[in-house]
Formats: sequence, C-alpha cells, structure tokens
Amino acid sequence: MNEPADKGVFQTLAGERDEAEGALRPRTFDEFVGQNRVADNLKTWIKAAQQRKGALDHVLLSGPPGLGKTTLAHLVATEMGVPLRVTSGPAIERPGDLVGLLTGLEAGDVLFVDEIHRLPRAVEEYLYAAMEDLSVDVIIDQGPGARSVRLSVQPFTLVGATTREGLLTQPLRTRFGITEKLVPYSAPEIHEILLRSAGRLGCDLESTAAQRVADRARGVPRVANRLLRRLRDVADLSSDGRITEEVVDTGLQMLGIDTLGLEDMDRRILGSLARLGGGPAGLGTLAVAVGEEEDTLELVYEPHLIRLGFLARTPRGRVLTDAARTHLGLEFPEHPGSLFDG
Ligand SMILES: Nc1ncnc2c1ncn2[C@@H]1O[C@H](COP(=O)(O)OP(=O)(O)O)[C@@H](O)[C@H]1O
Ligand SMILES: [Mg+2]
Repeated sequence: MNEPADKGVFQTLAGERDEAEGALRPRTFDEFVGQNRVADNLKTWIKAAQQRKGALDHVLLSGPPGLGKTTLAHLVATEMGVPLRVTSGPAIERPGDLVGLLTGLEAGDVLFVDEIHRLPRAVEEYLYAAMEDLSVDVIIDQGPGARSVRLSVQPFTLVGATTREGLLTQPLRTRFGITEKLVPYSAPEIHEILLRSAGRLGCDLESTAAQRVADRARGVPRVANRLLRRLRDVADLSSDGRITEEVVDTGLQMLGIDTLGLEDMDRRILGSLARLGGGPAGLGTLAVAVGEEEDTLELVYEPHLIRLGFLARTPRGRVLTDAARTHLGLEFPEHPGSLFDG
C-alpha cells in the first residue's frame, strides 16, 4: 500500500519492493499453492540432494513477475535447512563483488540471484567457473607482478530468477541443472491463495467474494494479495470489516478495475491502439503512447489482454481485436470484408 494512489494496482508488479509482501509469503511447500509440477519437481530434487548429503543442483526459475520465484527460492533454502543469501543481477556491478560473495559461502548454502539476466557480462564469466568447478580465478597485483590466483568455492546452490529467460546467455543457462518455468495460476488456485492470505491478515473474506477477486487477479498471486489488502481497507471503513461481494464490487470500482480485471493501464493500452488505427503498432510506439516501460507492457499487461483475446501479437506489431472494441464500446473500423469475417 505504499504506492501513490494514482498508480494502478498492477503498476508496481514489475518492481519487487513491497514490505507487506513478506508477511504473506508461504513458509513451507505445503502452503505454496499451485504450480504443482514445479513444486513437486523441486521437492524431489531436494530430497535426493539431502539423501546424498550434497548441495542441490543449480536452479533457474523463470516466469512473469509475481508468480512466486522469490518465494520458491526461500522455500528451497528452508527445505534444505540452510540460509538463503540474497542478491540480484544489477546489484553485482564488478567481478570483485561476486568473488566476495562466492568465497564467503559455506558448504550447502543457497545463493539467490534475482533478475539474473541483468548480471553484467564480465561478472557472468566468473559465475560459470564457480558453478561448474567451484573455483574462481582472480588477478592480484598489477603490472609485472600480476598473477592469477585460483580461489576455491564451497559446494553451493545457485538459484537464479528471471522474468526474461530469453536474455540469458547460452553458457549461463546450460549451467543450471534444474530449470523451471512458472505459469499463471488458475482462478481456483488464486481463490485458495486469497483465503489463506485473508487468514494470515486476520480479515474475514467470504468465499463468494474471494471468487470475484480471483476472477480479476489475472492469475497472479501478487495482484490477488494487493487487491485483498485494498479491499480490507474498504471493508474496515465501510462495514463491519467483513469482505463481502458488495465490498469487492465497491472496492474494485474504486480501483478502476472492471469485471474482466482490466485496470486503467489496460484501457489506456487498448485506447492507444485504437487511436493508432487498431495497429499493427510496435511495442516501442505503444510504450511511448501510454507512458510505460516496454518490459512492463510486455510482461505485466499484455499477457492478460492476449488471454482475453483483446490484443494480438503479429509479426508486424500489436493489433486490437474486435472483442476489445466491443468490450470498450469502441467504434468498429470500416474495414472491407475479409475472408475471415463471419
Ligand atoms: N504459490 C503461491 N502460493 C501462495 N502465495 C504465493 C504463491 N506464489 C506467490 N505468492 C505470493 O505472491 C507474492 C509474490 O510472490 P514472489 O515470490 O515475490 O513473486 P516473484 O518473485 O515471481 O515476482 C508473495 O508475497 C507471495 O505471498
Ligand atoms: Mg521476486
């Protein structure tokens, strides 16, 4: 609830900073809802590593923001019974930063590198050797006395998280023994997450009300939890604190979220596309038109619009669909009949 009021509910999705989030994070795999294949796989590899009394193989978690990558990194460490060392790609600027981190690890530690696709290239190369040979070569001294010294690294598990798996270099990607992709959650899964979160927050959420929120949370737990916190505020102010279907309707209307889970930014995207003649429009053009980062458009907003059939990605750019025009009450363009019209 730290964002300014004029920001959309989903706007901060791409960002990670949200202090309220930690409180709702599942602390065990049992509390982790959905992503069954990913969770089962991880539990299996963890059990096997424990039986061997070795470190777990390196894990790469990829998927859009808010689906549980950071949560899973914590769960891996918890399950292995070791501390999680947390850093991120952009935080490691020089090779020295990484070498310090790596040589400071104890046997079995889990090192979490968030946004690993943003690791500088020069740093990445040191990571390869550490992941593969448990060593890093550092150059000490300068000039004629300069020499390379090999430092050893304790067996460790690297957990990398990325929203842009495609940006990872091949050598880095191939050094992960375990690669898991997270996908959007089903409405029943989001429903379950909401009820669990409500329990954690100590608020009274009716099951039918949770259903309404689940239908509008885009399959993203972070969005669901953020909506829940806001609805709790509405409930606290307007009734006895109970989140009913009525509270959900009022709250979502206040937040500008419609029955399909579209918020202002979604409507701006569709509206801009309409003004651009319905497209095709390039991602860059669209980003400028709505004043949002390309990455955020592509990772946070577009998937839901595409799933709803409101926006299509074509080789020539983004295109507005007739379904979107109908939903927004926009005029249909005067297009000559095509073979594909009914
Ligand atoms: N499978 C899940 N079950 C319950 N809550 C979840 C689940 N996945 C994510 N969450 C909630 O959503 C929030 C965002 O998850 P996070 O792990 O930070 O996502 P990511 O790192 O992929 O952006 C967390 O606070 C957590 O409470
Ligand atoms: Mg994260």
